Amino acid sequence: MTKSVYVHGYSIREATRLNDQAETLDHLLHHDTLFNPGDLVLEAGCGVGAQTRIIAPKNPETRFIAVDLSVESLTSAQKTMDSLQIHNVEFQQADIFKLPFSDNMFDGVLVCFVLEHLPDPLSALRELKRVLKKDGVIMVIEGDHGSTFFYPDSSYAHRAINCQVQLQKKHGGNCNIGRELYPLLSASGFRNTQVTPRMVYVDASRPRLVDGFIRNTFTAMIEGVGPDALQQDIIDKETFDKGIQDLYRTAESDGVFSYTFFKGIAIK
Ligand SMILES: C[S@@+](CC[C@H](N)C(=O)[O-])C[C@H]1O[C@@H](n2cnc3c(N)ncnc32)[C@H](O)[C@@H]1O
Repeated sequence: MTKSVYVHGYSIREATRLNDQAETLDHLLHHDTLFNPGDLVLEAGCGVGAQTRIIAPKNPETRFIAVDLSVESLTSAQKTMDSLQIHNVEFQQADIFKLPFSDNMFDGVLVCFVLEHLPDPLSALRELKRVLKKDGVIMVIEGDHGSTFFYPDSSYAHRAINCQVQLQKKHGGNCNIGRELYPLLSASGFRNTQVTPRMVYVDASRPRLVDGFIRNTFTAMIEGVGPDALQQDIIDKETFDKGIQDLYRTAESDGVFSYTFFKGIAIK
């Protein structure tokens, strides 16, 4: 079994961040996350269900099986579905690299912010392809930290962001995987691959995104890797703190922040 380590951790703050992230980016990422009525869809690496809670109600006639390695996250996801009265999702613990499903079982597969954490994303995609029916659709959404730009620019902020890139790399992951979706999907044998960039652009005229994306999603995520980055001597405290301060600075009235996600859609 290929082992993977989830760099962001499983804290309550991280669960809140993932929910904030999903709600803010709902339309941008999921306006086209649509499956046919009657389809059986696998969501791989569902975590606390931050995407599930958006996608399942959007596809009320579709049945979802959502899997994750973390039992704790699955329990939290189930609670969320219960509280929202979402009844078309079943949760199950499973490893993406060794799925407990037969070949050609699913009509669709959805993967969101998971490949970036995996040491061997190509093997994961091949395993997902195995359980997908012929002509079934896979949708993969990932970020790419190299796409980040902001005003005022700050070398400290870039160095703080780089801490996550370095930490994730140490664990075998890749924060810049968005740009690799096309080659990865093609190399795993999918066809008709189409990748679309989904750019989040934020300035003060979009106050919901200033909070929801700059503060509560991106900067909160980078801030969260601080303790590990300091412990592993990737950066010194003063530089990191200044970097975080400069990221928050981009949320002020003259600030600008931009990040691009990539969504790949392909057919088996
Ligand atoms: C960043 S979270 C994304 C969660 C969810 N897809 C979302 O967008 O909110 C990545 C998730 O992948 C899960 N994960 C990592 N490696 C896995 C593996 N080998 N098999 C199944 N899940 C895995 C982690 O437990 C974590 O919940």
